[in-house]
Amino acid sequence: MSNHLTEADTVKVDLNVNGEKEAVSKDDQLSLDVNNLNLKEEVSRDETGNGYRAKTFTFEELAAATGNFRSDCFLGEGGFGKVYKGHLDRINQVVAIKQLDPNGLQGVREFVVEVLTLSLADHPNLVKLFGFCAEGEQRLLVYEYMPLGSLENHLHDLPPGRKAIDWNTRMKIAAGAARGLEYLHDKMKPPVIYRDLKCSNILLGEGYHPKLSDFGLAKVGPSGDKTHVSTRVMGTYGYCAPDYAMTGQLTFKSDIYSFGVVLLELITGRKAIDHTKSAREQNLVAWARPLFKDRKKFSQMVDPLLEGQYPVRGLYQALAIAAMCVQEQPNMRPVIADVVTALNYLASQKYDPQSHPVQSCKRSPSSPKVRRDDDLTHVGNGDQTDRSED
Ligand SMILES: Nc1ncnc2c1ncn2[C@@H]1O[C@H](COP(=O)(O)OP(=O)(O)OP(=O)(O)O)[C@@H](O)[C@H]1O
Ligand SMILES: [Mg+2]
Repeated sequence: MSNHLTEADTVKVDLNVNGEKEAVSKDDQLSLDVNNLNLKEEVSRDETGNGYRAKTFTFEELAAATGNFRSDCFLGEGGFGKVYKGHLDRINQVVAIKQLDPNGLQGVREFVVEVLTLSLADHPNLVKLFGFCAEGEQRLLVYEYMPLGSLENHLHDLPPGRKAIDWNTRMKIAAGAARGLEYLHDKMKPPVIYRDLKCSNILLGEGYHPKLSDFGLAKVGPSGDKTHVSTRVMGTYGYCAPDYAMTGQLTFKSDIYSFGVVLLELITGRKAIDHTKSAREQNLVAWARPLFKDRKKFSQMVDPLLEGQYPVRGLYQALAIAAMCVQEQPNMRPVIADVVTALNYLASQKYDPQSHPVQSCKRSPSSPKVRRDDDLTHVGNGDQTDRSED
């Protein structure tokens, strides 16, 4: 978790009604959610040069890579434990090393699921796992180092002197994150529900290239005719779909909701949950929902740090996508492939502040440029009749 986050932003939700911990037996650890996979066999095949990339590292190697986990190598801390930057001589790479905190919120289960998921995954918008260490009680994960840190650090509580990311970059990040999610949902075999999509889990490389990280909560999606998997409710407050939070039924649409929240954060610069705001504005989706219905309010939603430098039509379309994703009814939310198509298009429409007027907060973004037929789709809770002209 970044140092800037409030507790409520980052605390994992565990709404299991009877408060039972999911017991992890030794057998469980090796065959958790990914059927028929065995961590040691599957992952270490890489040593023979065929198949999976994840290597095993010794604790000694990782300690050496980080100068014994020196404080000046410290990058941040989340539910799993502390993250350090290091250089691994064996693979000649700068890496980020995450060390499991035995007293932390996450444990062996998350470690195994992370290694399995990332060992099977290979996509430019998913962070690369170089390997892991499981020696005695020690559990460490070794990732590619992402030089620009997490999206969270670029959107909220900016340190003095750091410029806010511009509109084009925001759309590029949204489109890349959507492609990462599409890979998990539609390309992986078996398909995977991510369950932990949020700004702190979108890491940024050179040129703000986004990659999804943290797959410890990932679940294999429903198979056959099933539309959901039943599970203990896990996730992060503010990002968790209401249907999943209430029923424990996890679907691909739960991820779409979380994606919608991230997209709203990118557009508005607001946090998913912000306790420093008044009661009405603390929950981003609850704040945004009534505003989606009134096009005149769109310019009030946009991040003030953009200083009016955004395309009116692009804002309208981005809000339309976000509004669809955070709809209460999961079946009304779009599938990820359609989100990717829409965002790839939006990201390709480069906004040039030189040739566009700076938008003032007071002006309606719908006039005079946006016509009704500019809609990517209708904004609102799936209500197709509410198409009043401004
Ligand atoms: N591969 C990486 N490259 C560079 N920095 C990283 C990398 N992985 C994590 N970090 C940094 O470490 C911080 C902590 O990450 P971590 O994933 O442990 O926690 P989190 O995402 O903030 O919270 P959560 O535990 O809920 O996922 C991140 O915010 C990021 O700044
Ligand atoms: Mg994380």
